[in-house]
Amino acid sequence: MKRILLPLFVTVLCVSCAGDEGIPVYRQPERSVDERVEDLLRRMTFEEKVLQLNQYIVGLNTNVNNIGKQIEEVPGGIGSVIYFSDNVTLRNELQRKAVEQTRLGIPVLFGFDVIHGFRTIYPIPLAQGCSWNPALVGELCAVAAREARLSGTDWTFSPMIDVSRDARWGRVAECYGEDPYCNAVMGVASVRGYQGDDLYLTDRVAACAKHYVGYGMSQGGRDYTATDISMQLMWDTYLPPYKACVEAGVETVMSAFNDINGVPATANSYFLTEILKQRWGHRGFVVSDWNAVEQLVAQGHARDRKEAAWRAFTAGVEMDMKDDCYRSFFPELLAEGKISEKAVDDAVARILRLKFRLGLFERPYTDSLPETERILTPEARQAAERLAEESMVLLKNNGILPLSGVRDIAVIGPMARERYHLLGSWRCHGRAEDAQSLYEGLQQEFGGSASLHYAAGCDFDGADRSGFSLARRVALQSDVVLLCLGERAEWSGENASRSTLALPAIQQELAEELARCGKPLIVVLSNGRPLDLSRLEPLADAMLEIWQPGVSGGSPMAGILSGRVNPSGRLCMTFPRSTGQVPIFYNSRPSARPDQGHYQDIDESPLYEFGHGLSYSHFVYGELESEAEEITSDKLFTVKISVTNVSDVDGYETVHWFVSDPCCSITRPVKELKHFEKRLVRAGETETFAFTIVPARDLAYVDAAGNPLLEAGEFRIGVKDRSLCVHLK
Ligand code: GLC
Repeated sequence: MKRILLPLFVTVLCVSCAGDEGIPVYRQPERSVDERVEDLLRRMTFEEKVLQLNQYIVGLNTNVNNIGKQIEEVPGGIGSVIYFSDNVTLRNELQRKAVEQTRLGIPVLFGFDVIHGFRTIYPIPLAQGCSWNPALVGELCAVAAREARLSGTDWTFSPMIDVSRDARWGRVAECYGEDPYCNAVMGVASVRGYQGDDLYLTDRVAACAKHYVGYGMSQGGRDYTATDISMQLMWDTYLPPYKACVEAGVETVMSAFNDINGVPATANSYFLTEILKQRWGHRGFVVSDWNAVEQLVAQGHARDRKEAAWRAFTAGVEMDMKDDCYRSFFPELLAEGKISEKAVDDAVARILRLKFRLGLFERPYTDSLPETERILTPEARQAAERLAEESMVLLKNNGILPLSGVRDIAVIGPMARERYHLLGSWRCHGRAEDAQSLYEGLQQEFGGSASLHYAAGCDFDGADRSGFSLARRVALQSDVVLLCLGERAEWSGENASRSTLALPAIQQELAEELARCGKPLIVVLSNGRPLDLSRLEPLADAMLEIWQPGVSGGSPMAGILSGRVNPSGRLCMTFPRSTGQVPIFYNSRPSARPDQGHYQDIDESPLYEFGHGLSYSHFVYGELESEAEEITSDKLFTVKISVTNVSDVDGYETVHWFVSDPCCSITRPVKELKHFEKRLVRAGETETFAFTIVPARDLAYVDAAGNPLLEAGEFRIGVKDRSLCVHLK
């Protein structure tokens, strides 16, 4: 009897909340989102509310004979699905079940990992960080948002802003490197690119800052392991990118897999509620990572799935991804008083708010557009090519580049004709056939002036040397050897940790074999992490890091080799001399004995430092000039430096501005990036770069409780090897 009466009671209540024309308030787009949320929440039963807090998966394969089964298996009122397909029909059928076959018709939120492109795959985020061009990164995220939304995905689980200093960890590919400021700036650019100013538009998606927080400190670079992070390090290194993205309006945050100092991220109320919601005022919602709620059992933090559901929800995770813990145990937890309906209401309200803001109630279905209007448009490909150009880093050049006057080019190596691996990890709906190979890029660039001679030489790994002899022959008949090496796409990304950063021995042996041919050797590298290149470097006359450039990698790479493109990428993550140096990063705290304590067997410095990257231009830096030497905390001041391009080649230069605080109550890193600017400096011309310093923003530090502190004293402002001192009174 109670069950029958309840919907009746709820219905009576609904009629009283409808507008005067009988349309429920939540169905009136002219009403405010908060009014609509409040009205809808009032109408919902507890079961309907709990369904909104769950995310299932759909579309792992869309062969027609199991579409019906997939639709049948997913409850109509489910809050969200991870939509693995780009099949609009399936998506609309699932949405129709929610909108037309449930009591309140609440649309489903379709999410997916659109990490560096939806179908037009562009460079991996680690490469994007090396472009130092946040505007261009934001432009590509807008391209990805359009392709995703027009294909039925409303929400991307991106940007990943986990500061990473251990390249053994495969997920370094997904972030913007070792620096908090770079991750913050690129993360904000991505959020704005995805979300734009109005989520209601049909070409925007909600973004998701992940993985909150400290996932990049996974022990030994092995995925899913625990992390021990001091609260000082958490506040000055791992939290800043998230704070920046929350301030930029990121709609959602994803909780991480890692245990943080004994309390897993997915059950850590200090980060999920006290900081994210109470201190930063985040009004969106937190989604757990895949099975991360259930994994609290494996992490020794919950006896069973029910306790896991309780711990995650009460800590501040609103949506449960994939493992069905919330749906399974919330009725019991409510009956036992372990969770409150008020808390459930707050969680559901956060999810409904996003659905209203996305316009899903008014436009629940995705139009079926022809592919040519939706994906891989010429404009999208061209934008991807520009970002690939700007993210490639010329690591070494003894003068052989740009090539000139070569008639025969040997193109050798396992990456030379690859397409698939150029897409990298998290390639979303990217397809190998969409990608231009390096060889094809070379053909386009040099086809009219030189002959290309190809040999695979070897595979990415293994011990088959049978291709060496042909590779030798091809090299001996050529003027120059391009050796295309690197990593398979699967060697980086999630669950892709590697114990060494060196490439497999077979690739090194091929390089040694070719170096013995006595021809200029140019190594082109496509990989998803910093590598140990210390044995390759002496063999090469030039080395070009192209990362995993996506669909348009061949032409940018060839353009750099020919000189049509002046390389402007600069490393956002340090390249060590040896895996044994890891973790190695530029912004470490000072040593007690800077000149001692080094490894006995190798040079202490990295092979290529943060910010390294060569250009065909030659930039000469002037001296730093500051408006003031005596400063006060309430006044901005500007520091300037001139950069002159003394070459005859126009080129883009990125000026990195660092701050040092040589003496502080809490020791500071030897230097910290606080500003950067990339600008074209034409041949023979001088540009003045400036950094306007806001003391409270740029000179302050945070303590272990996240309190900003600014201490009087000396500060150094640095660019390259120059620095000047200012004194804060
Ligand atoms: C994965 C990843 C996360 C991704 C999610 C959904 O395990 O950790 O980055 O967004 O699951 O695919």
